[in-house]
Amino acid sequence: MCGIVGYIGTQAATEILLAGLEKLEYRGYDSAGIATVWEGEVHCVRAKGKLHNLRSKLEQIETPAQIGIGHTRWATHGKPEEYNAHPHMDTAMRIAVVQNGIVENYRELREELKQKGHQFRSETDTEVIPHLIAEFLKNPPSVTDTFTPVASSRETRPTHWLLNRGNPRTEVSSPQPFSPSDLIEAVRQAVNHLEGAFAIAVISADYPDELIVVRQQAPLVIGFGQGEFFCASDTPAIVAYTRAVLPLENGEIARLTPLGVEIYNFAGNRLKKQPRMLNLNPTMVEKQGFKHFMLKEIHEQPGVVRASLEAYFNNLGDSNQSPINLGLPESLYADLEQIHIVACGTSWHAALVGKHLIEQLAGISTQVHYASEYRYAPSPLTANTLIIGVTQSGETADTLAALAMEKERRQGKESKYQARLLGITNRPESSLGHMVPHIISTLAGIEIGVAATKTFIAQLMAFYALALDLAYRRQTVSLEKLAEIINGLRQIPKEIEATLESQESLTEQLAHEFAETQDFIFLGRGINFPIALEGALKLKEISYIHAEGYPAGEMKHGPIALLDAKVPVVAIAIPGSVYEKVISNAQEAKARDSRLIGITPVNDGEAAEIFNDLLPVSHVDELLSPILAVVPLQLLAYHIAARRGLDVDQPRNLAKSVTVE
Ligand code: F6R
Repeated sequence: MCGIVGYIGTQAATEILLAGLEKLEYRGYDSAGIATVWEGEVHCVRAKGKLHNLRSKLEQIETPAQIGIGHTRWATHGKPEEYNAHPHMDTAMRIAVVQNGIVENYRELREELKQKGHQFRSETDTEVIPHLIAEFLKNPPSVTDTFTPVASSRETRPTHWLLNRGNPRTEVSSPQPFSPSDLIEAVRQAVNHLEGAFAIAVISADYPDELIVVRQQAPLVIGFGQGEFFCASDTPAIVAYTRAVLPLENGEIARLTPLGVEIYNFAGNRLKKQPRMLNLNPTMVEKQGFKHFMLKEIHEQPGVVRASLEAYFNNLGDSNQSPINLGLPESLYADLEQIHIVACGTSWHAALVGKHLIEQLAGISTQVHYASEYRYAPSPLTANTLIIGVTQSGETADTLAALAMEKERRQGKESKYQARLLGITNRPESSLGHMVPHIISTLAGIEIGVAATKTFIAQLMAFYALALDLAYRRQTVSLEKLAEIINGLRQIPKEIEATLESQESLTEQLAHEFAETQDFIFLGRGINFPIALEGALKLKEISYIHAEGYPAGEMKHGPIALLDAKVPVVAIAIPGSVYEKVISNAQEAKARDSRLIGITPVNDGEAAEIFNDLLPVSHVDELLSPILAVVPLQLLAYHIAARRGLDVDQPRNLAKSVTVE
């Protein structure tokens, strides 16, 4: 949550910062601000609300600076007002800082700094950082303090956060003392006094050729241009300028100058690192003619399924190799007795589909937990339990904390305890990627719309591959059945295409009728119960209409009391094990005057007649139907929100990656 960006080079910084912030706005849009340095001063401009407010303000101001930092905020500490907007400055207004994350010990620091005469202007945790830096610049610690190894002081913290797999390409050279009056040294001292998870960027009027950046448990990537350098919370912010990037690791600090980039660890050791080339081009982060990113991303789903099929499955004709290609070692699976999956939101819904697949195909008992609950009440620890964390962003604080807790409590135990941690993520370079020993990368490409769509489908594909991999290794499914399922999956892209084609106008028409509806109920059973939950979540998060998903059989145990002519019911009725049951549950809703919308391939006969409206999907095996059934629900939510004139890509109060608890 929150996006930060920085630039140093020879071009005008303001436009580059604004363009970068535009690409990061999905991370928060409560306020935005930039600070630049020119003519010996820090110039800071901030505005409440979305980025266009900041842009309008900046139109009135000439800013010739070639160095600057920018921020787009999702409010944590302090109201979303201009005085709380980043960048924040020290008392003398010589240092400006932007932060993504949370400084947990800011209250104590603020009190100490106030006593030393520092004047605070906001309610934020971030503001302690520029004051602390100013304090260390004014009163540098002695040279011996300068090299107090921070690792030892940090180890005393409660620190499931400090789990770092390390970077094999990193070489450490001997300490190269900074001068105690250096900006980087003051920043280093300051961050060693901060508790929490954060990424920061710092500039100062007194060091006009330096941009200092720090990563500690929040993402930060450096971009390398020709005589110019960038930093950002995420690569879309800089991909228009360079594809040579270096993601910082936790506990690293970098000095960017027009001449180059130096990277150190928090102990002051210089690190040698190489940038890598990004496999992303600027058009991937454009709307490409679609009205919203969300609509574009819904339409990208056939391609996502094709990419997943290509990556996860081998040619079925070759009997010498497994049909599934996840590259996971046998040690992850051997003697597996149970699986626990931790996730949040849409990823949690994908995990519920995953549970169904793993239990039904591979016969392994699987539980799905909200990460925010599991981190405080974990299941008993056993050696033969696999823990899976699912997070598209790889940065969700609760999911990371749950996994870190698991990792910590397994330390010191036999190796098989430690091996059994798996992450499923769309961002393998994320914090999750550093935390767990095994990863399944989902292949959605970058998703900008705050509501997850194509990343959900990509997660479903990962779960199909995982469940089939387990089933193959445990021989719980015959090779013929396995081939049948994989062949069925291969048909899915064109079925999604057909669904998109047939339903765009149908859902638009329905949206017209339901734009003012206040409550919706979504029903599903079996493998499609999580899809009912996902349909409800999509609708509520982007249209602000109250919606609930239920297992259809649960309605008569309470929720049916909600139904009347004003509450439409969307029922997912796919032929298979629970089709008749869903139809009869839908009939019960109709008897209470609810208008019924059916997501079903059956468009004739008595069953279909009970629906007032049909959003037809193709006939596919029930086991594969979630990938198709979710598409009309995504479109319905999209069109209702668009019809209501809402900001579909940036719904209120939300941010794409929830990096706070
Ligand atoms: C809903 C949505 C959220 C996320 C949740 C977890 O559309 O996007 O519910 O699914 O915040 O995010 P990740 O998957 O990044 O951990």
